[in-house]
Amino acid sequence: MSATKQLRKAARIILVGAPGVGKGTQTERLIKKFPQLSAVSSGDLLRENVRRGTPLGLKAEATMKAGSLVPDAMILQLIVSELSSQGWLSPSTTNVDALLASTFSFVNKPTAPSDDPLSSFILDGFPRNVNQASLLDRLVPINCVVNLVTPPSIILHRIANRWIHAPSGRVYNSDFNVPRVPGKDDITGEPLIKRDDDNVETFKARLKTFDETSRPLLEHYEKMGVLWKIEGNSSDEISPKLFQELEKRFG
Ligand code: AP5
Ligand code: MG
Repeated sequence: MSATKQLRKAARIILVGAPGVGKGTQTERLIKKFPQLSAVSSGDLLRENVRRGTPLGLKAEATMKAGSLVPDAMILQLIVSELSSQGWLSPSTTNVDALLASTFSFVNKPTAPSDDPLSSFILDGFPRNVNQASLLDRLVPINCVVNLVTPPSIILHRIANRWIHAPSGRVYNSDFNVPRVPGKDDITGEPLIKRDDDNVETFKARLKTFDETSRPLLEHYEKMGVLWKIEGNSSDEISPKLFQELEKRFG
């Protein structure tokens, strides 16, 4: 990978895209390229809860295996606690019950977010629908929404070859991004596993869920003037364009 780049303004980025489009892959590359960025993946947070057998994980497991979205209240609880522990939210904005109960945006106006580039972050997989997006608007205003687009036939092939390191969420692929030692994580040497939802049937259900929820979500961000679309058949084609765009906006 070429030299790292500096951000001059705080980037608050969301990646939106079909399952397997490369959100996790691009996130890993972005945090290497822009070391001031940190990332949170809602799917990784959920999988960690399932793995640890927490009450939330036990509730989420069947829904994830069916390829549906877990309830908004559940995901919000996870995301808010993660964003606050990273210091990206002020304590006054972290009352999840009040947020969920509030119908009007003025009930919980976001406090002005920090413009410090070190407060930059990427959210991979959250928000997934307009309700989640409206709740996030009240917590912290997002200033860049990247809509990643790749044809479904290409994606299906990738999923069949995907392997992950469960504790970190690091993603590998047996034809692209091959681990240095087969079946082992490059950093820890621990075993790689298949995700429970990476089978053809669940993948189709996840794609259907995405098709149903993504259009209104993208329209929401289009209206806010923060949407940017990038299309490509491979992550290698997409990454350089993504780096360039973020440098233009925040560098
Ligand atoms: P989540 O974990 O977010 O899954 P997803 O959206 O289905 O996306 P994926 O993680 O499968 O794909 P990705 O885009 O990250 O692709 P990747 O980089 O791995 O969510 C899982 C579940 O959690 C949901 O179904 C839902 O139940 C629940 N959930 C999560 N968030 C929620 C929310 N906000 N609300 C409610 N429920 C929520 O790439 C895929 C593969 O392709 C990899 O193997 C990669 O190595 C490979 N690859 C990437 N680029 C290339 C390339 N150029 N050539 C070949 N292979 C490539
Ligand atoms: Mg992912």
